[in-house]
Amino acid sequence: MTWLITGGAGYVGSHVVRAMTEAGEPVVVLDDLSTGRAERLVDGVVLETGTVLDREVLDRVLRKYAVSGVVHIAGKKRVAESVERPLYYYHENLEGLRVLLGAAAEAGVGRFLFSSSAAVYGMPDVDLVTEKTPCAPVNPYGETKLAGEWLVAAAGARYGMATAALRYFNVAGAATPELGDDGVFNLVPMVLERLDAGEAPLVFGDDYPTPDGTCVRDYIHVEDIATAHVAAARRLAADPSARLVLNIGRGEGVSVAEMIGVIQDVTGLTGEPPRVLARRPGDPARVVSSGDLIRAELDWSARWDVREMVESAWAGWRLRHP
Ligand code: WQD
Repeated sequence: MTWLITGGAGYVGSHVVRAMTEAGEPVVVLDDLSTGRAERLVDGVVLETGTVLDREVLDRVLRKYAVSGVVHIAGKKRVAESVERPLYYYHENLEGLRVLLGAAAEAGVGRFLFSSSAAVYGMPDVDLVTEKTPCAPVNPYGETKLAGEWLVAAAGARYGMATAALRYFNVAGAATPELGDDGVFNLVPMVLERLDAGEAPLVFGDDYPTPDGTCVRDYIHVEDIATAHVAAARRLAADPSARLVLNIGRGEGVSVAEMIGVIQDVTGLTGEPPRVLARRPGDPARVVSSGDLIRAELDWSARWDVREMVESAWAGWRLRHP
């Protein structure tokens, strides 16, 4: 049985490819290399260059490798960009998924695993977010992920595919320095960039109703995200009627101020004292996952802590910015 991993040359995707390969699952990667890089792939893994929007490419690849399961990670993931370019985000994330599901159904693929996001919850007003917490996305990015989950479940029910949607919380770190995040769009790389340049880290608001006034998030090592995919893939293979929707987080809240402290400690770069700016529009005060459901369903829990995430992100940063 071969798994097609879309977006497998990207930051999260390349970690999933690595973990699936180490677990002995045969994989083939489809990536349009818009943000991915072929060098991210483990030796011996086949890369087909193309987009999930191209039905001809999909038909060819699904048949050529006798694909029986799909892990769909390709997609656009920048929240601010999704507000600027909603039509583009719906096209890339939702139309791409629709085309891929059509090709998968016709090729008789029996398992479909979809990368979703905590962005489906929007501004949750709860201490721990469970999968029953109402979904109310507040930007087009989160909307495409929620609508994508619905589409995956509907197509899975109609065409006999076991399905899973994995809602990633705040991903950070790297399994090896080479696999680090190229983008500087999230807290950890943004703080690393500022400190490395001798500048003050930025804090988007310190007047939130949280213990230190800064936003609280649930950071998770990308390698833990990857092992959760392996566990979910195996579950789909064992349970043809699976219809899973699972949070992937650690269940531990870490504030922006705390995270900046860990980053200063790990890097030894204290820089200027953090500079507090106004709140960033659309930021919830606190988003922390309950880990109960994924633990019960997949017997999976996170292994890496925040310090290890930062240490590995810093090693990757230094490799790319010598
Ligand atoms: C974290 C916290 C910022 C930079 C987003 C998406 C989510 C998921 C992960 C993909 C916030 C604060 C940041 C800085 C700061 N994406 N911050 N100074 O917004 O929690 O989640 O990425 O699936 O769906 O919404 O992540 O890393 O941007 O911010 O104070 O220089 O750090 O305001 O409170 P976010 P983030």
